[in-house]
Amino acid sequence: MKLKGRVALVTGAAQGIGKSIAEALAKEGADIIVSDINIELANTTAKEIVGLGVKSIAVKTNVADASDVAASVEQAVKEFGKIDILINNAGITKDNLLIRMKEEDWDAVLSVNLRSMFLCTKAIAPLMMKNRWGRIVNIASIVGEMGNFGQANYSAAKAGAIGLTKTVARELASRGITCNAIAPGFIDTAMTQKLSDDVKKRLSEQIPLTRLGTPEDIAKAVVFLCADADYITGQVVNVNGGMYM
Ligand code: NAI
Repeated sequence: MKLKGRVALVTGAAQGIGKSIAEALAKEGADIIVSDINIELANTTAKEIVGLGVKSIAVKTNVADASDVAASVEQAVKEFGKIDILINNAGITKDNLLIRMKEEDWDAVLSVNLRSMFLCTKAIAPLMMKNRWGRIVNIASIVGEMGNFGQANYSAAKAGAIGLTKTVARELASRGITCNAIAPGFIDTAMTQKLSDDVKKRLSEQIPLTRLGTPEDIAKAVVFLCADADYITGQVVNVNGGMYM
């Protein structure tokens, strides 16, 4: 129960990695705001989290939209009075080779994956500054470090997330706030279930630990950064089975 008394807002927490992160933080005692564009699924997730013995609410948010983010933060503060932990996790892919990529697919991926981190951090950092304590974890990606065929938009957004993380870490450190990124490798979720079995097999062959990651693998690293990593900031934690070293 290392996070008892803390309040965490996790974006894109209705399913997948975000849901796993929300559950892992709740198991350490944190109250959870399940922020997601899919409110039906977010409500179900929040109910499941209440079953773990903490408070939890779902808030409908399009993280790419500034007024939506402001309204959801207001709703969360009304309910819990503060936000101590922000996990910028919401993300989408719209893959295509660069020469075929549509401008709207570039813009959508940059907005949901990167602009969202700027908007949520800007809205929530002042609350953390007031309390002189905060933990921010940005979910980047291995492809932000390596690049990837068909993912010019996504890899640019995730590389941007790493740059943003380092700047936020520098700007907020003196207020007791840490900001780190996690760069997951290939994780078994709805996002990767789109890949064919053949592609998954070829990916696994490139992973020294010989398997795709699980959402729980990522959640454990998030809990460490929020609960135990007082002297770690501005870092990129690679959780990728050794695929990129
Ligand atoms: P997912 O597709 O299972 O879940 C994403 C969640 O984000 C969904 O609940 C969705 O409703 C929500 N969401 C989408 N657009 C949104 C918006 N505009 N506003 C609010 N919520 C929105 O994806 P997954 O795999 O759980 O990914 C989570 C994060 O991890 C993403 O940032 C992704 O880029 C990152 N990641 C995933 C990897 C993987 O292999 N699955 C690898 C590396 C990074």
